[in-house]
Amino acid sequence: MITVEDIKNNEEVQQLIKLSNRNLEVLGYTEHGTRHLTVVSERASKLLRELGYPERKAQLVEIAGWLHDIGYIVNIMYHQLTGALIAADILRRMGMNYTEIYEITLAIGNHHEGMGEPVSDISAALILADKSDVHKSRVRSSADVMNDIHDRVNFAATDSHLTLGANNSIVLSILIDPDISSVMEYFKIFLVRMEISKKAANLLGKNFELIINGIKLT
Ligand SMILES: [Fe+2]
Ligand SMILES: [Fe+2]
Repeated sequence: MITVEDIKNNEEVQQLIKLSNRNLEVLGYTEHGTRHLTVVSERASKLLRELGYPERKAQLVEIAGWLHDIGYIVNIMYHQLTGALIAADILRRMGMNYTEIYEITLAIGNHHEGMGEPVSDISAALILADKSDVHKSRVRSSADVMNDIHDRVNFAATDSHLTLGANNSIVLSILIDPDISSVMEYFKIFLVRMEISKKAANLLGKNFELIINGIKLT
């Protein structure tokens, strides 16, 4: 069975990740390289394991997490769709079975807010992990922080965690430095991401809670 280690060691995948992250850097977008992919892959699989899903499901979302942003190799528009098709092609050539390939394809194709919906357990875990990764290390240059709200909010975020909470909830906790950005700014750009996270938690039979600087906001 194909594991995330097989994917990480695949030279084509390594090249795709490197080049798509470089494309985003040229466009001034936040980091989408191995740091982001590690966070998403690990958080999504940990979530399914903690929720008691079969180990193979956790492994599949680990793989989906590692491949979910490779569509940026084509264009920033519709990267979820192109990425899903590129991933399916790679996984097919690596010998993965069709059922697993299409579970991953579906999850990658639906991970982006606006055009995606949580449509399966793997897809829901991928969405929650992806939207949870707000962190200052994703900002390419601190010089952009005052001009770009996305950079500013990311730069203000010093910590983020995705955990299971009391009250049957999945909890996203974020620490934001108020001297750099405000909670209002966070909501301004992350509201759509919070809405898709809520839907994803519901699909997993949970509520979604957002806690910023220790204060429960949803
Ligand atoms: Fe993405
Ligand atoms: Fe992502």
